[in-house]
Amino acid sequence: MQKEWYRINGGAPLEGTVTISGAKNASVAIIPAAILSGDTCILENLPHIHDVQVLETILKQIGATVEYTVGDCMKIDASHITTTEVVSPEVQEMRASYYLLGAMLGRFGECDIALPGGCVIGARPIDQHVKGMRALGAEIEIGSDNILRARAKHLHGAEIFFDMVSVGATINVMLAAARAEGLTVLTNVAKEPHVVDVANFLNMMGASVKGAGTDVIRIQGRKELHGCGYAIIPDQIETGTFMIAAAATMGDVVIKNVIPTHMEAVSAKLMESGARVEEGDDGRDFFIRVCMRERPRPVSIKTLVYPGFPTDLQQPMTSYLTVANGVSTINETIFENRFNHVKELRRMGASISVKENRFCKIKGVKQLRGADLRASDLRAGASLIIAALMGQGVSNVHHIDYIDRGYEFLDAKLTALGADIRRMKG
Ligand code: UD1
Repeated sequence: MQKEWYRINGGAPLEGTVTISGAKNASVAIIPAAILSGDTCILENLPHIHDVQVLETILKQIGATVEYTVGDCMKIDASHITTTEVVSPEVQEMRASYYLLGAMLGRFGECDIALPGGCVIGARPIDQHVKGMRALGAEIEIGSDNILRARAKHLHGAEIFFDMVSVGATINVMLAAARAEGLTVLTNVAKEPHVVDVANFLNMMGASVKGAGTDVIRIQGRKELHGCGYAIIPDQIETGTFMIAAAATMGDVVIKNVIPTHMEAVSAKLMESGARVEEGDDGRDFFIRVCMRERPRPVSIKTLVYPGFPTDLQQPMTSYLTVANGVSTINETIFENRFNHVKELRRMGASISVKENRFCKIKGVKQLRGADLRASDLRAGASLIIAALMGQGVSNVHHIDYIDRGYEFLDAKLTALGADIRRMKG
């Protein structure tokens, strides 16, 4: 396969309007969730991103019929699933393939699944997923072949207290519990917007999920679920990426199709740094306008579970703060290894020190300069694109397959905002 990269001539402010796509992290959970019913589901507002394509491939491999009706609408008919074995190489290509475990267990009471891959940003164990499934009555073994085998003669409700707040475990156990017999109470759950979106989707299928968005979710299991139509929420992280990119390039961007309440932590930090952030409603969409005209003031950031500052925007924010007028600090509390972008930013002249892989101190410089950069994971990729847009001169951002996993039409959207970005092949 030919290698592709982005060539970016930085320095231009982003200006204009951009429309946000459907949420990656909701889509990659809702597509597997669709197999919980033996009917047809139609999902609207799905982003055209690599992770969605991979799930489409996996669903077809197990016998589901998947087709795009119009542009961003996917029709999934899960009535003819032929196997509960999900072990193809595609499963290991992405993290969220683990949602097939909850969905398969809920629907068929069994599943053999290859352990998930995804971005390398820490150890990323799945012990809380396993703990939850076991509490629902599943027997689970993980073989030396890295295949997790789950069997449940009788999936039943349970009270489960998660040891830590995990988005993946919350959603995965919620999927299985939707079809278990009786009441499941999940405590210390994640409250991220996509957790709520998955709960809403399950309820549209006839499930009874209450409390999503709070610390406790109650699920009354149902014998059957039915097909439905459902529109995925806008992507919180794509929204934040464009908000930060607008401020970082001293631009003025209107970001449409957003849910402003999902962005409060990011808006607060951008305003603290001196950016103007306005929310509005044009009668059709909610929008956020970000405008920045001066060098940012330094700020301190601590990543936290929702509604705190999202870890997925820590890397883009680091790029922005490289040119702040003073010293900024970042404390990454969610993942153990999420500063791989720092050495790339240093190539552009950024002054950043990292301690214990948890803390970083950013001494603002006047300007970044173009360089050859390598993305190490999805959001590191987004942070390098922002840095390249900020930098004086040409940057080449390599390994953009990571970026393709989660951002729809990124180069086209940035070009429409006035960026000089080209996708290169060679
Ligand atoms: C999801 C998001 C990812 C985001 C992350 C945190 C998807 C597809 N991905 O990832 O973009 O960065 O939430 O908001 O939605 N942990 C355990 N044991 C477990 C599960 C998690 O120790 O069984 C730990 C993880 O290693 C991590 C922390 O808990 O340190 C949070 O992880 P989790 O919320 O599960 O993240 P993901 O679902 O992998």
